[in-house]
Amino acid sequence: MAKHHFEAEVSKLLQLVIHSLYTNRDIFLRELIANASDAIDKLHLLSLTDEKYKEFTAEPKITITLDEVEKRLVVSDNGIGMDDVDLVENLGTIAKSGTKQFLEELEKDAKNKEHLIGQFGVGFYSAFMVAKRVEVVSKKAGDAKAWVWSSDAGGEFEVDEAVRESHGTDVILYLRDDATEYLDEWRIKEIVKKYSDHIPYKIFLKKGDKEEQINSARALWKMNKSEISEEEYKEFYKTLSHDANDPLYWIHTKAEGTLEYTTLLYPLRTSSRSLSCRLHTGCEALRQKRLHYARS
Ligand SMILES: Nc1ncnc2c1ncn2[C@@H]1O[C@H](COP(=O)(O)OP(=O)(O)OP(=O)(O)O)[C@@H](O)[C@H]1O
Ligand SMILES: [Mg+2]
Repeated sequence: MAKHHFEAEVSKLLQLVIHSLYTNRDIFLRELIANASDAIDKLHLLSLTDEKYKEFTAEPKITITLDEVEKRLVVSDNGIGMDDVDLVENLGTIAKSGTKQFLEELEKDAKNKEHLIGQFGVGFYSAFMVAKRVEVVSKKAGDAKAWVWSSDAGGEFEVDEAVRESHGTDVILYLRDDATEYLDEWRIKEIVKKYSDHIPYKIFLKKGDKEEQINSARALWKMNKSEISEEEYKEFYKTLSHDANDPLYWIHTKAEGTLEYTTLLYPLRTSSRSLSCRLHTGCEALRQKRLHYARS
């Protein structure tokens, strides 16, 4: 059993997540689904660009499992997965300069706490809004060993060897007594519909021996304008930008000819530094992704 201490900033963030906060706890699911989707993206990219990963072509899948007996909610994916070093680095420290900056701004401007937090996604750690304990069981694609990261949000976490059949990750939330509403299938369906419907991979809900797909799994920008409601455009903007406000407006166009392309543009409402930093990081990630695709 290996015990580790959280980086000081993570401890601070965890205390904030648990004690302050969010008027809207539902977003924890959006964050975990976004991470699962990113992990599937990463593996897909490697399968196209790296000989070592070309066998990893299983159909991408995200599953939310509800266990009423153990009061657990599990988000699973068959993406890239993490080894022991990744688990310590990714879930024990904050690599993003945006998060550090957010904490600094929060310290300077404690009065505006709610507003600042509402604007800012805290990713994986938002799981602790609804869970008293979190376990992450993961196996990295190509590895033989699996690992489990666990924490009850004190100052420490543990990383141990574990068992998982194939590559991917299970994020297991042991729900707090005041969060058992998230064991309700209708509640989960409602949240997924609202925040994660546009995720391009299939999301399944599993309870007992029942399993059903609960999102439409179509990229919003690829759909016809007539199929998209105003609400969907707005939610997509919020997920993309982590801005709590509605977008000012949007432009959605499709060009057809020798060259075909679709654009969906949202002008920024705010010039907040944390938001522009997020967007900058997002653009860079997207640019790299497109370069990879173009090469493959
Ligand atoms: N399901 C998962 N599979 C593989 N890696 C994961 C998974 N969930 C989290 N991670 C790793 O943990 C890191 C931290 O996740 P977190 O959600 O806090 O930040 P992020 O996704 O990088 O940024 P943000 O969520 O703020 O956009 C991720 O960058 C990723 O490397
Ligand atoms: Mg994330």
